[in-house]
Parts: sequence; structure tokens; C-alpha cells
Amino acid sequence: MRILLGITGGIAAYKAANLVRLLKEAGHDITVLPTQNALKFIGETTLEALSGKNIDLDMYHDVADVRHVELGQQSDLIIVAPATASFLARLASGIADDLLLNAILASTAPVVVAPAMHTEMWQNPATQANIATLQERGIRVLEPAVGRLTGKDSGPGRMPEPEEIATFALSGLPLQGKHVLVTAGGTREPIDSVRFIGNSSTGRMGIELAKAARDLGAQVTLVAANIETATPAGVSVIKVGNVDELELAMDRNCDLIIMAAAVSDFRVKNPSNEKLKRGESLTLELTPTKDLIASYVANHKVISVAFALSDSDGDRLVEVATAKLWDKGVDFIVGNSVSALGSDTNQIEFISRNSHESASGSKSELSRWILERVIPSLS
Ligand SMILES: Cc1cc2nc3c(=O)[nH]c(=O)nc-3n(C[C@H](O)[C@H](O)[C@H](O)COP(=O)(O)O)c2cc1C
Repeated sequence: MRILLGITGGIAAYKAANLVRLLKEAGHDITVLPTQNALKFIGETTLEALSGKNIDLDMYHDVADVRHVELGQQSDLIIVAPATASFLARLASGIADDLLLNAILASTAPVVVAPAMHTEMWQNPATQANIATLQERGIRVLEPAVGRLTGKDSGPGRMPEPEEIATFALSGLPLQGKHVLVTAGGTREPIDSVRFIGNSSTGRMGIELAKAARDLGAQVTLVAANIETATPAGVSVIKVGNVDELELAMDRNCDLIIMAAAVSDFRVKNPSNEKLKRGESLTLELTPTKDLIASYVANHKVISVAFALSDSDGDRLVEVATAKLWDKGVDFIVGNSVSALGSDTNQIEFISRNSHESASGSKSELSRWILERVIPSLS
């Protein structure tokens, strides 16, 4: 998920460094945007090193990019921690006098604030009125903790620990508390000790689906069949090679299974343990493999999405994919043509038991699109 992390000028700003690290380690793409005053409490260098991105607070740099709009529109979630009394007041009034406030006003992403200040400042009617205004507008406020404050005194106003902020900010996501199992890549069935029957699936679609499910709050297990590219952070990855290993790795309960892996339909009946020598001719006897997704849905109470890859497109692809939906007993099927293999984009036919929609775009965009249509079935 693309998270814009605003940091404002309170003593708790130093704790935001750990929040950056936590969110980054969970696999999110973090853009840190401190206010000028926040940089009196925490160093720009620390934030740049932890987030892996340079920080530029000047609204009027790179004006051609209109950075405040870009930052706002490219965020899936905005967190402000700590949020000072002054920041909350300006946000409640719609004052946009720095890059952070401009980006928030230019965004439609959910906003979470973690106020932190001295007890009297927190309990001041002005602050409480601003909090009420922000909550009415849908901004989620994480109540400050009770504890030690800046000086020797203690009371309500302390910023909660980064772990609590991260959990709160990421809760309320549509796949929170759900386990999503995604299979990706292509299986390889051995012919001999070095050769195999495989396919050209790169696993890109499955990886994007795993990322999208993770970003929507799910606990994700990605069963990766022969994927060469890097697997996403924040998901559990199980690497497999052939159909039997894939079946074993799938042997777990989940709320949603997405079968994006290209599974071999056949295996060699008697693969050789040694490398076969060049000869005059060789006949391989192939036997069909098990239909893993059909068997999985028959034995688990689960919402299921399968993929159907076909040489055809248009109406014929819809026909082939619809037949597979009923044949396998899945809830949804994504029909795509062989041109999708190895590409960053895809054109899909999304079929449920009573509807059909077409869509095209990057595999990342389509992953979100697919999950948005599947999520209502999970509730
Ligand atoms: C040592 C010190 C600690 C401060 N801590 C806080 C704080 O925890 N919460 C707060 O709301 N303001 C705090 N302030 C006041 C803010 O820094 C001040 O309101 C500032 O204008 C906030 O700027 P910003 O919201 O643009 O980051 C503190 C000031 C000082 C000097």
C-alpha cells in the first residue's frame, strides 16, 4: 500500500522513526512528509534513510509536477503521527499552509491521525472541538495514551507506541482478519533428472494479487511455483516446483483462494532419475494430473477464484471460462488469453455464477479491481 506518513512538530516525532521502519518492513511503500517544525525534533537524514526516499518539504519545488496533488492522489492511506494541536486545528479549518496539509486536502485516501500533546492541550475545548470536526468528516483518530509526557508530568496525551498506530491505521481495511491463499507461477513436471514439462507463466499476476490482498489488510500466503522474480514483502511465501508440491502447500484453510498458478495438466508417467541420453527417438507416456482447484473447493468452505487461460479471446474466451467455472465449482473465474503471459498488462473476462464483466489494465490495477468484486462475497 502507498502510505503517506505525515510527522508534525511534537516531542513524540522521534517515535515516528520506528513507525516508518515497521510499515516499511510490512511491505508498504512509505513517503514521509514531516512539517518544518517536525524537523526540529527528528532528523531528515534518519527519515530519508529509513524510508529510502528523499524528503523535500518545499511546496514550490518541482512545480511542474504539482507535488501536493501528486502526493495526495498517489496515496492509499495517510497517517499523521504525531499530530500536534496546531496541525489538528489547521486541518479542521481547511488551512493548507504547508505541503502536508495541501496533500491531505488534495487526497481522497482515508486519513488516520495520532494526536500527541500535553494533557491540558489535549483536553482544551478548542482541541476537542477540532477532533470532533475531524471525526465527523471521517478522519480516524487514535486516542492518545495515558503516560509520561515531555517533562516530569504524566497524563492523557502521550502518543501510542508505533505498533499500536500501525495496527490501528491498517485495521478497518476490507480484508482485515481474512486469510488469502494465492498460487502463482507455473509448475514443472520432471522428464528426467534435469528436464521438465513446464509453461511460460512468470507469476506476475499472482504476485500482484498477493500484494493487493496484503494492501487491503489480508494475511496472505503466496504459493510460488518456480518464480524467478522477487516475492513481495509482508506475505508468507512457500516455494514449490511440481504439482504434488503445490497440492501439499495448498493443504491449509483460508477464507479466499486465488488460483493464479498455471498448473500442468499432465505429468510423465515414469520420469527417469538420471539424465536421458540422446537416442533415436523417445516416447513419453503422460498421465493427467489432479484438478487441484476443483478438489480444493470440494473439500473446503472457501470463496474461490480460478484463472482460465485460452488461445481465444472475446466471446469464445467467455464461453471457455464460463464452462470452467461450472466444471471446477469455483465462485469466480478470470478468463485471459495467452497474450497475458509475461506481460505487465492483461485483458480479462471476469465471470461469476450470474454476471460477466470485461476489464483491462496493468496487472496491479486489475488485481485491485478483481478483489473489489470478490470482497462482498467474503462478508
Ligand atoms: C519542546 C517542545 C515540545 C512540543 N511538543 C508538542 C507536542 O507534543 N504536541 C503539540 O501539539 N505541540 C507541541 N509543541 C508545540 C509545537 O511544536 C508547535 O505548536 C508547532 O507550531 C507545531 O508545528 P506543526 O504542527 O506545523 O508541526 C512542542 C514545542 C516544544 C518547543
